[in-house]
Amino acid sequence: MEREDLLAAARAAAEHAYAPYSRFHVGAAAVMETPEGELVATGANVENASYGLTICAERVALASLFQMLPAGATPRVIQVAIACIDAPEDASDEARVPCGACRQWLAELAPEAIYYVDGVARDLALPDLLPLAFQLKRKPRSQRARARVEPGASRSRHSAASSKSV
Ligand code: THU
Repeated sequence: MEREDLLAAARAAAEHAYAPYSRFHVGAAAVMETPEGELVATGANVENASYGLTICAERVALASLFQMLPAGATPRVIQVAIACIDAPEDASDEARVPCGACRQWLAELAPEAIYYVDGVARDLALPDLLPLAFQLKRKPRSQRARARVEPGASRSRHSAASSKSV
């Protein structure tokens, strides 16, 4: 998608922020490449009276985007746009870029994306935002702790209740 179109989507999403405490409305829009074409999701910040429970626009957008991914498909997020529509025109770049928690999410879910930040001239990449990002090696599926129930397999009430897994 064009840079300006994705930024426009992020700005539009910011209008839907729930930000009664900060009055700082942020929007994000992210694009994922799939074999069937590109998927786009947007998000805005949702605040909470218990301030630390607030969720940022970037994480809302990424969570939505990943719900759209076809089951079993490999995610590849290619573009992310972020807009802080209440930042004053002369706000520094630091007042417009993603917070640290979101950067860790972006490192996990959008490591290859190009980042467009409204009001920041230069497009960014993940290493600009979070150098030396913390990562863990992924375990192959076979090593997952969770046992999958075969489709169609029936489980008694008792076994279903007692087979909680993490
Ligand atoms: N916020 C975001 O949505 N994304 C960021 O990366 C930085 C901060 C939100 C959280 C809070 O609702 C408001 O902006 C002020 O911090």
